[in-house]
Amino acid sequence: MDPIARFTELLERARKTPAIAEPTGMTLSTVGADGRPSARIVLLKGVDSDGLVFFLGAWASEQSAPLRAREDLEKRFAELERKYEGKDIPRPPHWSGYRVAPLVVEFWQNRPARLHQREVYTRKAPGAPWTMTLLNP
Ligand SMILES: Cc1cc2nc3c(=O)[nH]c(=O)nc-3n(C[C@H](O)[C@H](O)[C@H](O)COP(=O)(O)O)c2cc1C
Repeated sequence: MDPIARFTELLERARKTPAIAEPTGMTLSTVGADGRPSARIVLLKGVDSDGLVFFLGAWASEQSAPLRAREDLEKRFAELERKYEGKDIPRPPHWSGYRVAPLVVEFWQNRPARLHQREVYTRKAPGAPWTMTLLNP
């Protein structure tokens, strides 16, 4: 089976599970040439055979810049609400999205006695066929 179809099925199941507040919450990690990893929690906004899509920030927040006081953020939000009331909200200049086309996808399933099920799907390039291999846990 195509791992993207399998992933979509599992995500739908997670969406129907009330205890999972943010079923599309995921950790995005990158690593620099110096070997230092960097991670950010983002929301998965789309998934299909072309890959996984996620975006940045919003109008009201200068993401990750120091905030003097909470009221500054709330004031800015209220101002923007007034400014764009009844209008189409344009895309903020600092806002963009990414699509990751995976070459490797692994599903890890918990099983008793640490005999977990690991299925790894690999492909040579986007659009190429997937191959599934089982891995030792
Ligand atoms: C559940 C959840 C979903 C989030 N979704 C996004 C998102 O889709 N895009 C984004 O840019 N930030 C998102 N954030 C906020 C970032 O994770 C947060 O601003 C982060 O701490 C920024 O850290 P950094 O500057 O070190 O990357 C989300 C946070 C949480 C907890």
